[in-house]
Amino acid sequence: MHDLDHALGTATAASSPVECYNEWDPLEEVIVGIVDNAHFPPWHVAVGAPLSAAQREIFQQRAGQPFPADQVAAARDELDQLAEILESMGVVVRRPEPRDHSASYGVPGWSSTGLYDAMPRDLLLVVGDEIIEAPMAWRSRYHSVSAFRPLLKDYFRRGARWTSAPKPELHDDLYVEDWTDQPDGEPFRSVITEYEPTFDAADFMRFGRDIFAQRSHVTNGMGIEWLRRHLGDDYRVHEVTLEDDHPMHIDASLVPLAPGKLLIQAERVPEVPSLLKDWEVRVAPTPVIPDSHPLYMTSKWINMNVLMIDEEHMLVEAQDVPMQRLAESWGITPVPCPFRNFNSFGGSFHCATTDVRRRGELRSYL
Ligand code: ARG
Repeated sequence: MHDLDHALGTATAASSPVECYNEWDPLEEVIVGIVDNAHFPPWHVAVGAPLSAAQREIFQQRAGQPFPADQVAAARDELDQLAEILESMGVVVRRPEPRDHSASYGVPGWSSTGLYDAMPRDLLLVVGDEIIEAPMAWRSRYHSVSAFRPLLKDYFRRGARWTSAPKPELHDDLYVEDWTDQPDGEPFRSVITEYEPTFDAADFMRFGRDIFAQRSHVTNGMGIEWLRRHLGDDYRVHEVTLEDDHPMHIDASLVPLAPGKLLIQAERVPEVPSLLKDWEVRVAPTPVIPDSHPLYMTSKWINMNVLMIDEEHMLVEAQDVPMQRLAESWGITPVPCPFRNFNSFGGSFHCATTDVRRRGELRSYL
């Protein structure tokens, strides 16, 4: 191929290497995160907001320090096992390039160090044939996409549409400086303002033409509206209000497994959105993760953060027998993978991945 053709990508390619409309079509290519060099970010009001009181204390004490090396090693091993399982099932697995998250960076007005490259779900949103870099609200995630840029450039060269939402400034005015938890029973009070659009990709759940979104401590109204306008008339972006005390990422609350099959966290979803009223709903089983197991930045409901390989196969934590039984009782084959050490870092299979291509088409399922 001519150099220029190579640089511009195969504009004539019949299909894009990036194409995904929902959470369940047969998976063909996926990005699996890496946990190398994971660091606790500098302390900041926005970092604390989605965490529990105990987690906040640890984040304050260990700000700027690396995560424990033995836990990183154990999680790395589980990520490699996940990659192997996916490959053995015929899925192309891509990995980001490690980055140094201890290095300081900044813009006029603030500076930070980084977090990790473990959760591509948080920052890359694939809708149709487009891959979108999310405008993340945490200063420690300002350069999160860096580790994934080699992959994004490769997808672009091969014909993908590639976008970044407006790069946020992350100015002090984005944050509610004196933020405190809303009192029990009161409506959610976000740590971020409407200063500019921000969102994490993991606050969106794709159901074909319909996409459900939640406002959280990282996703604001402008962020949801930006995506709605960007996607245009082919998609309907619905904002849902869930009962999550510390919302950050919808994928441990409302998780579609296949057309007509919705998994929910019962307390966070006391009322299923009316658009999903024809779907069969099942409640996530009580997590089996013991209290002694470190969970630095997620609740135990990370047990429902499963990944569908297709409508009939679900990646599920190896020790999570109740979730495996739930899958079987619903006609889904559980594909177990040890992932509990990875869970410590704040996610499970859905968080740790970005499904780049699933074989299917744009359809309406509601
Ligand atoms: N906030 C959720 C919880 O604490 C965890 C969501 C993790 N999701 C993610 N994409 N990192 O239960």
